[in-house]
Amino acid sequence: MPRHQAEVQIAAPSSTDLRHNPLFLTHIPNSLQRCWAEINLAAFERNLKRIQAALPLDVRYVAVVKADAYGHGMPQMVRRLMQSGVDYFAVANVHEAADIRHMGKGWPILILSPLLPEEDQFLVDYDLIGTVSTPEEAARFSTLGASRDVPIKVHLKIDTGMGRLGIWHEKALALLRTIRELPNLKLEGIYTHFSSADSERQFTRIQRQRFLTILDQTDTTGLLIHADNSASLNTLSGDSPFNAVRIGLLQFGVRPYPDSLLGNVEVEPVFSFHTRVGIVKDLPVGTDISYGRTCSLKRDTRIAVLTAGYADGIPLKLSNTGTVLLDGQHCPILGRVTMDQTIIV
Ligand SMILES: Cc1ncc(COP(=O)(O)O)c(C=O)c1O
Repeated sequence: MPRHQAEVQIAAPSSTDLRHNPLFLTHIPNSLQRCWAEINLAAFERNLKRIQAALPLDVRYVAVVKADAYGHGMPQMVRRLMQSGVDYFAVANVHEAADIRHMGKGWPILILSPLLPEEDQFLVDYDLIGTVSTPEEAARFSTLGASRDVPIKVHLKIDTGMGRLGIWHEKALALLRTIRELPNLKLEGIYTHFSSADSERQFTRIQRQRFLTILDQTDTTGLLIHADNSASLNTLSGDSPFNAVRIGLLQFGVRPYPDSLLGNVEVEPVFSFHTRVGIVKDLPVGTDISYGRTCSLKRDTRIAVLTAGYADGIPLKLSNTGTVLLDGQHCPILGRVTMDQTIIV
């Protein structure tokens, strides 16, 4: 047998086989975790209900679930979103889109990132909506539509200042015309994305105005018009001038600002990370803690060493700044977070 086949066999036994395979010494039960993430599905469902209740009736809910639903686990999150009756899904690529399509027919699924030419076919296979930012993409999708004899659904994306995807706003009307003239393309929406919604109100206002200027010069009847993400809802009080919002973070419990369109929505965190205390020990005043000696004890101190570090997902930048909850108390992280251990006081 070729060597690589032998390796594959060893690397992919079932979990029962693992215990009997002499190459794997571990028979440690899965319940003995040194750290783990918990996803609070009930909190997620409550968040969705509250967001939906707060959205104006004429504003559609585009649920952004890219990157495995922001790390929360796509299937579980998408199932709840479907049950709660969101209007649309938005993802980063065809792989995520196909996963959602397998879970349910009918939901419109918008791909926010550019497609590689080899991926175009999946727009038809999985009944997806592509984003058009360039005349080349429009032509490619139109050719695909002709070859498969179906209209390809697209949203036009306009770059109003993000400098990433989208046709630059000053050229948007021309591309809009092209899309409308090309055969086998079905324009279903127009959107833009804000670059600094959480930090620069004035610039977001400029982007919004650029977008509105384009919309004013074209017929948007029947189109989904969207710009706002969780943070940019901050810059909107009252009604949205658009008929859809793209919501990612807020669903998972990252709270908006108090004066936003959804500011009164009480969302709860969905994700929590847990670990265990490995040892507790007493150290004398003046002891330096962890790599780089970035922290020195100001008094005799009892510390605890946790059994998780940056390799497990505790951000290095929480070194000397973060806190962890231990028995309901906020305990500061001392010194640098290390690869698989973190020191707290
Ligand atoms: C184009 C686009 N729209 C909307 C979102 C959702 O943003 P948020 O998670 O801040 O709500 C994202 C997130 O990455 C995005 O790339």
